[in-house]
Amino acid sequence: MRPVDALLETIPVALGTRSYRIHVGPGALASVGRELSGLGVGKKALLMADRGVLARYGATVRESLSRAAFEVGELTVPEGEAAKALAVAERAWEASIDAGLDRSSSILALGGGTVGDLAGFVAATYMRGVNFVQLPTTVLGQVDAAIGGKTAINHPRAKNIVGAFHQPRLVMCDTAALLSLPEREYRSGLAEVIKHGIVLDAAYFADVEASLPALRARDLGTLTQIIAGSCRLKAGVVERDEQEADLRVVLNYGHTIGHALEVVTGYARWTHGEAVALGIAGAARLAERLGIADGAVRQQQLQLLEAVGLPTRGADVPAPSVLDAIARDKKVRDGRLPFVLAPAIGTFRLVYDVPAAEVRATLADIA
Ligand SMILES: NC(=O)c1ccc[n+]([C@@H]2O[C@H](COP(=O)([O-])OP(=O)(O)OC[C@H]3O[C@@H](n4cnc5c(N)ncnc54)[C@H](O)[C@@H]3O)[C@@H](O)[C@H]2O)c1
Ligand SMILES: [Zn+2]
Repeated sequence: MRPVDALLETIPVALGTRSYRIHVGPGALASVGRELSGLGVGKKALLMADRGVLARYGATVRESLSRAAFEVGELTVPEGEAAKALAVAERAWEASIDAGLDRSSSILALGGGTVGDLAGFVAATYMRGVNFVQLPTTVLGQVDAAIGGKTAINHPRAKNIVGAFHQPRLVMCDTAALLSLPEREYRSGLAEVIKHGIVLDAAYFADVEASLPALRARDLGTLTQIIAGSCRLKAGVVERDEQEADLRVVLNYGHTIGHALEVVTGYARWTHGEAVALGIAGAARLAERLGIADGAVRQQQLQLLEAVGLPTRGADVPAPSVLDAIARDKKVRDGRLPFVLAPAIGTFRLVYDVPAAEVRATLADIA
């Protein structure tokens, strides 16, 4: 096994003047002060996290920032989705004023995708935009939410409906932080990892397959390789389509059905990753039904999802409500919704105007 400090990977995200780097590896959080200093930003900052994450990782981040002479305010936010509320954003704007943040200052998000989405939105809006740093500590945060600059809070009537594109200046993915994740959160994040392999890269998909025992054991070397690989794939998509004009929709694989299942069950029955796993099982079946992929392609996807402990069956919710939720999907343009399907592992195709009967039959197949 390689020494842990040799495990750091750096992934550049090339977006012109908005370019940044993603650092992946165990212990990455301890370098945030040095990396942020290197960007030449102002010395004032605000750190946002929930209570549990602050208790675990706050000290490491604070010490790293203070070694680099940063003056850091702190805001404790509610845990989970409750953080993405206007009232919390308001408190964060207030904390930013209290901490004396100016245009050269930075807002840092430490924790899962919820804190990242909230803090990113606050960073995008405070003084029309200040520096933003992502310190994701969940699998989903590291391979997905922290990369790409989509930020948002929720409205009581719709999730992620108020937001802005605001790229981070720096992303530090500390893979050792993933060791404290509850098993269900950990597995759920792997749904996005598998998604990246299915639609973007067959070799990466095979790497994930081959790494299964080590991934289950959360071996740090393996985790770092797999997380870094996913970051690279997502970064590649974001570089080619920063504002989701076309290509970025590929990242929605498994999310059309998955998201509808979440909506219909009030976000209470499955985690996001579990719903995405079911959505992938649905997309794989739909591709087969439409003659776009053969059964073996579907089997490969199901096997990998099941091997990490994600569901591929049991989506027994009323089809009309799911179809209804799909019709209201945010990706609908002029009444047409593209389904992302995978003709083979590592490739994708956008398919429009899928007959409702096919979707209904697919839902029955994953029930
Ligand atoms: N902006 C984007 O592009 C994007 C992409 C995907 C998802 N998202 C958003 O991300 C959010 C979901 O993020 P999430 O799955 O990370 O959930 P989360 O932020 O709710 O975190 C999950 C739970 O894990 C805890 N936690 C975090 N790190 C931990 C650690 N290292 N050890 C122990 N516990 C830890 C948190 O306290 C929380 O209870 C959703 O709101 C979703 O909309 C955004
Ligand atoms: Zn997702």
